[in-house]
Amino acid sequence: MIEIINNNVFHLMNDKVSYVLYLMKNNQLGHLYYGSPLGKLTQNDVDYMLERNNKSAGTVKFYKDDGMFTLSDRLQEYPVYGTSDFKEGAIEIVDSKRTPLYLDFQFVKYEKEFTKERNLAYPATYSENEESQTLKIRLHDSNHNIDLIINYTIFENSAVIARSQEVINKSEDSITIEKLYSGVLELNNNNYDFIHFSGAWLKERHIKKKKLTQGKVSVESLKGASGHQHNPLVLLQEKSGNLNHGDVYGSNIIYSGNFVSQVEIDEWDNLRLLTGINSDYFSWKLGKNESFKSPEAILAYSNEGLNGISNEFSSFIENHVIDRQWQKQNRPIVFNNWEATYHDFTDESLVSLAEKGKSLGMECFVLDDGWFKNRHNDRTSLGDWVTDEKKFPNGLRDFSEKIQDQGLELGLWFEPEMISLDTQLYEEHPDWVVGHPYERKSVGRGQFVLDFSNPEVIENIYAQMKAIIEETNITYIKWDMNRNITEAYSEYLKEKQIDQTEFFHRYISGVYTLYNKILMDFPEMFIEACAGGGGRYDLGMLFYSPQIWPSDDSDAVERLAIMSGTLLGYPLSSFSNHVSASPNHQVYRETSIEMRQHVAMFGPHGYELDLNELGDEEQEKITKGIEWYKENRKLLTHGSFKQLMDPTNPENEYSWGVFNEDVSEAIISFYRILAKPNSAVTEYIEVPFLSEEKTYKINDTEVVSGQTLKKFGLRKPYQYNGANAGQAQVSGDFQSYIYHIIEVDEKEENNG
Ligand code: DGJ
Repeated sequence: MIEIINNNVFHLMNDKVSYVLYLMKNNQLGHLYYGSPLGKLTQNDVDYMLERNNKSAGTVKFYKDDGMFTLSDRLQEYPVYGTSDFKEGAIEIVDSKRTPLYLDFQFVKYEKEFTKERNLAYPATYSENEESQTLKIRLHDSNHNIDLIINYTIFENSAVIARSQEVINKSEDSITIEKLYSGVLELNNNNYDFIHFSGAWLKERHIKKKKLTQGKVSVESLKGASGHQHNPLVLLQEKSGNLNHGDVYGSNIIYSGNFVSQVEIDEWDNLRLLTGINSDYFSWKLGKNESFKSPEAILAYSNEGLNGISNEFSSFIENHVIDRQWQKQNRPIVFNNWEATYHDFTDESLVSLAEKGKSLGMECFVLDDGWFKNRHNDRTSLGDWVTDEKKFPNGLRDFSEKIQDQGLELGLWFEPEMISLDTQLYEEHPDWVVGHPYERKSVGRGQFVLDFSNPEVIENIYAQMKAIIEETNITYIKWDMNRNITEAYSEYLKEKQIDQTEFFHRYISGVYTLYNKILMDFPEMFIEACAGGGGRYDLGMLFYSPQIWPSDDSDAVERLAIMSGTLLGYPLSSFSNHVSASPNHQVYRETSIEMRQHVAMFGPHGYELDLNELGDEEQEKITKGIEWYKENRKLLTHGSFKQLMDPTNPENEYSWGVFNEDVSEAIISFYRILAKPNSAVTEYIEVPFLSEEKTYKINDTEVVSGQTLKKFGLRKPYQYNGANAGQAQVSGDFQSYIYHIIEVDEKEENNG
């Protein structure tokens, strides 16, 4: 997978992709190519690729005696601003007097590594059985005695390249890293649109598309979390591309804290993508021989349009970021009590909800919030993780046994990073709250953030959580985080004389430490991440939590947009989906139980509504829906997922499909938000993934060849138009329809 030509060209390649870098004439690393596989390269090929127009006129040159060579027109692997290139660079370091260093990292040597183990201490990609190769390139700046190691990893059967950078201070003096981005991708034209995933609480990761032109465009977070507003995932889509055709590049980072993902287009239409820890409010001091490693970035490529890049990301993340044990087991069908009861319940009312859920087919009861001492509303008690004796007079163990004795799994909600001021924890440790020494501290949901840069805080919270986990034998944790960090300042860092600019990174590293501790002691604990809904839907979280609660908006129609955006870069199996009440609690929209089920059955499935309020008909539909989901769960959680209508340009309709490896079975959904009678006589959905060699039966009725379905299309359900009552398959607003398509033996069908 790693080919080295003439000791100065490095070709990472497999059946899906080639990534080529080389030593430029100044002995720094230049970038040559990332895209469809090039096959084995010869020196002639390399010479041909290296030949490019020189744009030296009007630029500053790198060498005194070479009037042609300038970094401003070279594609680079790890550019430094101000060294004949004026675009934003990937790294900035200052010396102990805060003088900027114009770094000159020159090649020293390379090594190859054939293993990349999963290490719970810090989130990163991993591989098993030598499925990956890593090229480790050591560079050195001799003026300042600083080493830079760049790690590139390529994986079998994947178009993803993972990379990270490590800085080692070899000098006697301390230095401070002001910026150390994780990913860089340079392309030599701007033939792309920039796609990002942005929104707010209740409307996370909506698809936004921007035209690129000379200048910069970026998305970022400075909230201490990746955030509801933006996501580190960004795509570059070839302008003429669409859902299934055209080049698309994608980039993401395995990180949950402050980030930036940006693209800069220069005067010659060169494109530079940078992504990593946000350099605002960040710096990191290194003494002699100390080092700092950036989080890992993953770059992906596909020439099969948006569906292609979504499939690349999704299978990569399932195999090399999320713990693989979660692919082998069924995701439980969850009943979550939040929207059913909020804080208002007794142990008996919960047990009766659990019984009801069990009778309808649910498998795991998640007790969401409100179970710990005095937590009767969302303004209190965070940090004291002890049972509320009023709600649980016989204790939490007794309650958990009542749930588990029914054959249900039990999950519990925690918000480990938070503290309320009315707690014993606060009384004992007021200095554990994040905030400046001045009096005013901004407040969110009535709560404050615990200083996770302080290891003692993590130990305390872990000890409390461990006691509860052992008491209740839970197998599932919902890990929430409901407010962002303001006035970032740590008393602990002050005491240790560590710069406050290290706080944000130390905080999120502390969050990872707590995840690590839990999973080291309880390796089979299933953790569902959540941050006021989708405020931390990122790869750092997915490394520890295979599933994320994607939004506090559980409305089926809003979820169409959230899910269509999210799944362009994250796997179906990571997206928790619940059927909630109608009218919906966030938008007050009324939708049918079918529509809600048809949306929520894509991905891990659950219910979050008052089961005691359900009529007989709804109960029957839920039971049937769950039975059907169980039969098709594998496909609906881990099947290949494709969108069948362009979600970057949604009008009134969405359509999704999942299919198995040999495409002998597919489930396709169709959603129409508002009724549209008589728009055409008959309309069809394009289904590019069905096999032309097979014959299929649709919903146990029509038998059609794969050829016809592929070329002619799948007929959309008949819309009610006032005169076709007998025939209409959908009517009113908020429509949905499911096609279950299964391969059949053509001859048997014809004989039959
Ligand atoms: C916010 C979450 O997103 C909800 O699902 C729920 O867990 C509440 N917090 C509980 O306070």
